[in-house]
This record gives sequence, structure tokens and C-alpha cells, in this order.
Amino acid sequence: MTSDSSAPPTLPAPRSSARMLELVFPKDLNGHGTAFGGFVLSLMDKAASMAAIRHAKGSVVTARMEAVDFHLPIRRGDAVALEAEVIHTGRTSMRVKVDVYRETLATGEQQLATSGVFVFVHVDEEGRPARIGPQP
Ligand SMILES: CC(C)(COP(=O)(O)OP(=O)(O)OC[C@H]1O[C@@H](n2cnc3c(N)ncnc32)[C@H](O)[C@@H]1OP(=O)(O)O)[C@@H](O)C(=O)NCCC(=O)NCCS
Repeated sequence: MTSDSSAPPTLPAPRSSARMLELVFPKDLNGHGTAFGGFVLSLMDKAASMAAIRHAKGSVVTARMEAVDFHLPIRRGDAVALEAEVIHTGRTSMRVKVDVYRETLATGEQQLATSGVFVFVHVDEEGRPARIGPQP
């Protein structure tokens, strides 16, 4: 029988941010051989939603994608490093900033490739907007 003292520790996760790392495969490329914009947007939506869920402590839906700028192409074989953070909270909605870096894994170099702001709404089981609780 395992005693409590040998149980792995439970660590607190970040409350209002999220990080992700992905690789770009051939299926993710456009005709120019660089990452398809919709692929990058879906990764941004995923990372941003995780930051929003952590912040709202419940389900969220994407309400708006705004001000997405593609600064640099992301190349085949690059890693895609995403950083998402809640930057503003309303009654039921949140604005989440997402920065996407293209990374050469072998050298560890990262460059800001895409950035954007997403709006998420915290929803109840019926999909209706629900108030976001107080933050610590
Ligand atoms: C997002 C959604 C829940 C909003 O429902 P609604 O009844 O229109 O909500 P309300 O008008 O009461 O607004 C609720 C909040 O959302 C914000 N909001 C709603 N639509 C928005 C939009 N397009 N852009 C920015 N904020 C928006 C409002 O400003 C409000 O914020 P606040 O409570 O912080 O002041 C609803 O439109 C919806 O379900 N949309 C589809 C979501 C979806 O399918 N996403 C893709 C897959 S996850």
C-alpha cells in the first residue's frame, strides 16, 4: 500500500495562461510550402481556449478572433511555440492575447511569427453566457 508521503505531488497549474508546442508537418502546408493560415489559427484558438478555461474555471466558446497578424512564415520542420494569456476580463467574456513563435528546435532560436487577440465567453451547460467568478 502506498503511503501519502510517497504520492506524487499535486502542483498548481497557471490560472490564466497556457503554452503549447507543435511541429509543422507536410499536411499543414500551403502551396508555398509554409504553414497554412487556418492551421496556425486553429492552434491559436486551442491555446487561447485553454488559457480562458483556466481563467473562467469552466467551459468557454470562441466569440471573436480579432487583429491576427501574420508577421513571418512558419516553415516545414519548424516547431510552433504558442503563448496565450488572458489580458482582460468582462462580466462573462475574456480577451486573450496569443503570440506564436516559429522555432528552430536544433538551435533553440524563436521568432515572433503571428500574434492575435481572441474573445471567449464563459458558458453554462446550456451554452448561455455565465458570469466569471472572482479571481484570486
Ligand atoms: C458567444 C455567445 C455565447 C454569446 O452569446 P450572446 O447571448 O450573444 O451573449 P451576450 O450578448 O449576452 O454577450 C455576452 C458577452 O459576450 C460578449 N460577446 C458576445 N459576442 C461577442 C463578439 N462577437 N465579440 C466580442 N464579444 C462578444 C459580450 O460583449 C458580453 O461580454 P460581457 O459579459 O463580458 O460584458 C453566442 O453568440 C454563441 O454561442 N456563439 C457561437 C460560439 C461558437 O460556436 N464558437 C465557435 C466554437 S467554440
